[in-house]
Amino acid sequence: MIHIEKNTVEIGLAKPLKILHITDSHIPFYCEADTEAIIKQAKNRNREESVSNLAQLMQYAEENCDLVVHSGDLIDFISIPCVEFAREYLQNEKVLFVAGNHEYWRCDGGIEDMAYRMESIAQSGGPLCEGQLYNAHIIGGVNFVGIDESYHQAEYEQLDFLKEEVKKGYPVVLFMHAPLYEEELYKQSYAFWNNENYILGCDPAVHPEIIGDQTEPTESTKAFYDYVIGEKQIKAVLTGHLHFAFESRLHGGTIQFVTNRADRGNAREITLL
Ligand SMILES: [Fe+2]
Ligand SMILES: [Fe+2]
Repeated sequence: MIHIEKNTVEIGLAKPLKILHITDSHIPFYCEADTEAIIKQAKNRNREESVSNLAQLMQYAEENCDLVVHSGDLIDFISIPCVEFAREYLQNEKVLFVAGNHEYWRCDGGIEDMAYRMESIAQSGGPLCEGQLYNAHIIGGVNFVGIDESYHQAEYEQLDFLKEEVKKGYPVVLFMHAPLYEEELYKQSYAFWNNENYILGCDPAVHPEIIGDQTEPTESTKAFYDYVIGEKQIKAVLTGHLHFAFESRLHGGTIQFVTNRADRGNAREITLL
């Protein structure tokens, strides 16, 4: 059973554009050649539910929307059949995608940092698609910019890329895996995730509990956060990762949507006007 929230965002388009925002589908295929840890994790997942819900959401998008934006955790781990599935799914020209942390997960308890990510990409036989770490597509007069900051940090390279895209002059819809900091969202997320932070750009002076955590923002993350909240050409931010739905305004006034997990049948239809 699918459940689709609906929102409208006015950004001054000549012709409306309807997108289906999908995130966190966590597809858990596995085969006997996968590692024991992956097989164990796969067996704990409800494969039928995640596969059927993603298929139903894609069907809905096919019938009702101009394009799909998938903001990561498409697969649950990098098993052999998940990597194959992701490569095939991402051939669909109607789908824009940016990776989430599960696009690199090996279920091995390793510290998930940049080195881990690069090792996982190598083990997957290269990126799942072009622009997995950042990409941009101009569709219907909107520049959709995807940034993978799923380890809760953004790099200068990604910030520079975003700035170059903004310079092109189109309204920008930014889609990323992890949401950006805003007080109310932080409060809800911190409670939901049992006192762990999964949000990017928290100020350690306001939230000393994140000092020393992997989510304590680096200089590039702070610069990225400040730029996004201050840039008026960024009209909406689409994210997932938290596994619950939320919408609020970032400090600069931009709307940020967090969309609930697709493996349970959730998605968000956003009409850009
Ligand atoms: Fe997720
Ligand atoms: Fe995630």
